[in-house]
Amino acid sequence: MSDRYSVSKAVVTGGAQGLGEAIALRLASEGLSVAVLDRNADGARATADRISSQTGSPVFGFGCDVSDRGQVKEAFAQAAEAMDGIDTYIGNAGITRDRMFHKLTDDDWDQVIAVNLTGVFEGLRAAAPWLRTEGPGRVVLISSIVAKAGNLGQMNYIAAKAGVVGLVRAGALELARFNVTVNGIRPGFIETPMTAAMTKEAYEATMTSNPLGRAGQPEDIAGAVAYLCSTDASFVTGHILDVNGGMAL
Ligand SMILES: NC(=O)c1ccc[n+]([C@@H]2O[C@H](COP(=O)([O-])OP(=O)(O)OC[C@H]3O[C@@H](n4cnc5c(N)ncnc54)[C@H](O)[C@@H]3O)[C@@H](O)[C@H]2O)c1
Repeated sequence: MSDRYSVSKAVVTGGAQGLGEAIALRLASEGLSVAVLDRNADGARATADRISSQTGSPVFGFGCDVSDRGQVKEAFAQAAEAMDGIDTYIGNAGITRDRMFHKLTDDDWDQVIAVNLTGVFEGLRAAAPWLRTEGPGRVVLISSIVAKAGNLGQMNYIAAKAGVVGLVRAGALELARFNVTVNGIRPGFIETPMTAAMTKEAYEATMTSNPLGRAGQPEDIAGAVAYLCSTDASFVTGHILDVNGGMAL
């Protein structure tokens, strides 16, 4: 592993596809061991095997629904056993259930908060015993541009993603004494299976309005995560990094 990293054992939630997969691939290419956790257990294992053979780094896949506290505890314990500890936690798993707020069902609200906010918190809580004893450590939590800019039809998602910003601020202060940095990323529009569900019109409107004139790619987010996990960012904590091509300044 290069001198650019003082950490070596990362858990990535929601790592079977999309941003999580790109983050896991980037960290494994940098020489870290990685545990990919995803509610899609087969997907997590398949992605882990693919990344491992591509990079030569140890990559493990475990089934884990982050909205289930018991599963989170168990999967983090499995990851720690496989990697001989955890010093890096990437809280990435997320879902959308978009509707104008007067049409949101109880389930739309509860599910999005359970996965995107409580699930991110539970991952931090499950990783904490290892983060506290291993030090130095890195935590990167994935928020969203909409936590800053707002958006129609995403009140549940925006509330959860704004809550993630709160977890970053609080976590940075609580974990600093253990030499663990806690930062967040607010991705803009990034091409993944999540955004593939957008209508053609919404996709084109988002593309043409971006100052850099393109959609973000998963690798754009993975690069930002790699920086925040590297020794270059060892004095950066409690920061929320916008990676959005200038879409919301
Ligand atoms: N793609 C974007 O434009 C964009 C923008 C801003 C923020 N984000 C955030 O980035 C993160 C990743 O998004 P993506 O675009 O890669 O989405 P995606 O839907 O392509 O991938 C999400 C992954 O998370 C997993 N997942 C979903 N619910 C889970 C649960 N309860 N437990 C464990 N795993 C679960 C899915 O199985 C999937 O593998 C999400 O938190 C999302 O809100 C994405």
